[in-house]
Amino acid sequence: MTPMTSMTQQIRQPNVNGTNGIFNDDFSRRYDAYNSRLAVFGDNLYSLTGLLLAVLPDDANVLCIGAGTGKEMLNLAEAHPGWHFTGVDPSPDMLRVCGEKLRQAGISARCTLINGVIDDVPAGENYHAVICMLVTHFIVEPARQEIYRQMAARLKQGGKLVIAEIAADMAADDFKQQLLSWTAMHEVASQTTHDPEEIRAQFNQKLRILPPAETELLMVKAGFNQPYHFFQALLIHAWIATK
Ligand SMILES: C[S@@+](CC[C@H](N)C(=O)[O-])C[C@H]1O[C@@H](n2cnc3c(N)ncnc32)[C@H](O)[C@@H]1O
Repeated sequence: MTPMTSMTQQIRQPNVNGTNGIFNDDFSRRYDAYNSRLAVFGDNLYSLTGLLLAVLPDDANVLCIGAGTGKEMLNLAEAHPGWHFTGVDPSPDMLRVCGEKLRQAGISARCTLINGVIDDVPAGENYHAVICMLVTHFIVEPARQEIYRQMAARLKQGGKLVIAEIAADMAADDFKQQLLSWTAMHEVASQTTHDPEEIRAQFNQKLRILPPAETELLMVKAGFNQPYHFFQALLIHAWIATK
């Protein structure tokens, strides 16, 4: 039995995924420190998510896609002691940190962790909410449209979807200014200098960044109502939609 399976969370076998090279052991240990330097605006996103999801029942089941080190699970679990969470992530390293934090917070018993992607979440309309924070920009077509459909398929009718992702029209005249602002933010978080053009190249090579209107359309095509765009901080946008 590995240290992971000895905890209360259920962790399935690792699933091969292209982003595990990014979200590896070293990065997973630095991830929370990086984000903590951006807390002054990053926390706003997670607090607003909690506010908008307060309409869920007291015993809600919540699915977190790309749960990472557990930020959204921990935030929501603290405010809603009756909610149950399923966190899915292809990176065993990110999930290891997540599992440890859930244990320390004393909420492991109402959390299930799945080492995999959304296809590994048992089928069925079992969830009152699906939350996917800062994940979808890693997913290229055709899987990009499919993941929104898979999220809809896991939600009960009337269930809520919250998505946050990096979104931009990289061909727009003002994208260069947006890139400079993003680089400045990244320099604060990483505490090193960065070349904006290198960041642009990484966006092109490792991410699939869509204009906000395009990603909204993918949600609508997957069966959600017109998403409400409730948050933007530089290139990070967030929406809530109802199935
Ligand atoms: C930037 S982190 C976000 C973590 C967390 N949601 C948060 O807001 O702090 C992105 C996470 O998405 C995961 N990920 C990457 N590709 C994924 C996929 N296809 N399905 C689910 N999760 C994925 C990564 O392993 C990583 O843990």
